Amino acid sequence: MPKPKVYSTHPLFEEARKILDANCDVQYWSESERPSRDEVLRRVKDREGLVCLLTEKINDELLRAAPKLRIVANVAVGFDNIDVDACTKRGVVATNTPGVLDETTADFAWTLLLAVARRLAEGESLARSGSWKGWNLDQFCGADVWGKTLGVVGFGRIGRAVARRASGFQMKVIYTDAVRAPEDVENSVNAEYRDLNSLLADSDFISLHVPLLPETRALFDAPKFFRMKPTAFLINTSRGPVVDEAALVAALENNKIAGAALDVYENEPFIHPGLKRPNVVLAPHLASASLETRTKMAVMAANNVVALFHGQRPPNMLNPDLLKKQ
Ligand code: DGY
Repeated sequence: MPKPKVYSTHPLFEEARKILDANCDVQYWSESERPSRDEVLRRVKDREGLVCLLTEKINDELLRAAPKLRIVANVAVGFDNIDVDACTKRGVVATNTPGVLDETTADFAWTLLLAVARRLAEGESLARSGSWKGWNLDQFCGADVWGKTLGVVGFGRIGRAVARRASGFQMKVIYTDAVRAPEDVENSVNAEYRDLNSLLADSDFISLHVPLLPETRALFDAPKFFRMKPTAFLINTSRGPVVDEAALVAALENNKIAGAALDVYENEPFIHPGLKRPNVVLAPHLASASLETRTKMAVMAANNVVALFHGQRPPNMLNPDLLKKQ
């Protein structure tokens, strides 16, 4: 039996390649630049499986170009790049990589929170510049983190992992979510449920952990910034369009909030020029980027593909009704 043909838009990591290569006939994109849209459309023509990154739009156009496609395995937990309904209509399984990146992403939300509060980026650039004149009493005085109030917006696995880390900083944790968490979960991380407006008013740091959905698009808009403390900071490691960037820039310009630390942007890789200011820390979508975690994500995607071609249910299906439960 010939092996199923798979296209991967990235060379992946060796552990993932071993799994795929043992079971499939795989073509890997191996250039350092990402493949163009045309390139991807051309490559998927005769493929039954596709391993893709969150930068690839999986929509009707792509599905039409790949009539033999049976599975799209996203190497990301967020799947706003995939039109899952369109996949389901065409009988294409879609999968993601939940769970493996929670702790790594939470670590990075804290990296950003601490960096913006303590003005690390500004200090680091002075230290590297060669023009540092030595210790001074009022140099780069930032804001304390310990003992403050952390507001977590979106209390899923990553939001909870962020909340859990706050106890070492003796912080009060408040959270909001569409659905209130069970009491034992709240107690395990010492978090108190609030509605969004109350969280906005009381938080010193607000960290976003919601998926991008129609109801979370531009969730943080001008009125929300208006309700935040002028001393508060916004941290976003979720998805860029959850924040209305123009409104954020206006809030920063008018001192409605004290600063922001961002890993994601409305139109990546474009970054609104108004965000390039000293009280904003900018990262290029790195939150899950530890070698261990990115490797696990790639392995998970490979296992999803291989499971399907072995006649099993891929473990991380986004359209679970597509295959009969086995
Ligand atoms: C995801 O997985 O959705 C992240 O944004 C990349 O790790």
